[in-house]
Amino acid sequence: MNSIAQIVVEKTKSSKIGQVDFDHLSFGNIFSDHMLVCDYRNGAWELPKIIPYQPISLDPASKIFHYGQSIFEGMKAYKDKEGSIWLFRPLDNHKRFNISAKRMAMPELPEEFFLEGLKTLLRVDEAWIPKKEGSSLYIRPFMFASGKGFHASPADEYKFIIASAPSGAYFSGKVKVLIEETYSRSANGGVGYAKAGGNYAGQFYPTQLAIQKGYNQVIWTDDNTHEYIEEAGAMNIFVRIKDTLITAPTSDRILDGITRKSILDIAKDEGMQTEVRKINVSEVVEAAKNGTLMEMFGAGTAAVISPISGFGYRNKDYELPELANSYGARLKKRITDIQYNRTEDPFGWRYRV
Ligand code: PLP
Ligand code: COI
Repeated sequence: MNSIAQIVVEKTKSSKIGQVDFDHLSFGNIFSDHMLVCDYRNGAWELPKIIPYQPISLDPASKIFHYGQSIFEGMKAYKDKEGSIWLFRPLDNHKRFNISAKRMAMPELPEEFFLEGLKTLLRVDEAWIPKKEGSSLYIRPFMFASGKGFHASPADEYKFIIASAPSGAYFSGKVKVLIEETYSRSANGGVGYAKAGGNYAGQFYPTQLAIQKGYNQVIWTDDNTHEYIEEAGAMNIFVRIKDTLITAPTSDRILDGITRKSILDIAKDEGMQTEVRKINVSEVVEAAKNGTLMEMFGAGTAAVISPISGFGYRNKDYELPELANSYGARLKKRITDIQYNRTEDPFGWRYRV
């Protein structure tokens, strides 16, 4: 395995940063000046390099186009008041990246390439990390099959890239969700626990149908019985019934979210009662009817904690109450205070770049 004592950096000659309105950032559609690129050839990773952000050229027979071998991660870099740069549990993203790689028969990536590569990229593009409250630099490490051939088998060449995008909120307001009973996101023995591109492509059509009906997102239920709430398109789901915060256990079908597990730890630390167990849809509907359903929210890196305003199920809509001091708001404050270095981090999650 190669080691990356020094990463080659080729800087852009024409920075785009002057064109960016950092006060009005949307999510993930402006890209910073540089990207990290690393190729896997002849059974080994070559040394990564940092180059100006640019299009890539691929052979039409590259297996990514035909068989969808593609995985990604989602992370954020945060800038504190003093200008220091922080990541949140980045080693967990690296671990999950390799779990995804293994499931998709792709080569695992050494930790050093992921972490040292990312740190170097962040130092080069430091000016792209927003300072404004609620904004951050969204980081997208991804890998795909660049090797070619129409044979349906794993490619022999791969590309690992890290690109980033200064971003604001993922959702602009509260989220209204539809509990899905026809389509499934994942199945036992499938790839639901991997951050594989195809998991997301497969959700677009059912999500479009939900959007046409006036919802923003689909809540996936288990593929077998459709009785249990699993997760949303890009978030894990928490339900608060009375004063208990409940989330589904991770499984073959659910992404092991880093925000999810952090929220569980913070909630316990805050003295909130938590349960990790199957959540029956009928239990949530019943709680909505009898007034004990206090909150629902999604949790993820991009979405942070996104409150759910209501849900649809079997052609009926259920509203959630507006709470003054919701668990969601308290947990969001605590996790973002840790991420932006505004408070102590007793968990050791914050990672200085
Ligand atoms: N579930 C899915 C399907 C996701 O895409 C994400 C986003 O990464 C999450 C959950 C939340 O995971 P994390 O908190 O690690 O970002
Ligand atoms: C993230 O939260 O980082 C994700 O990867 C979700 C993504 C689909 C926007």
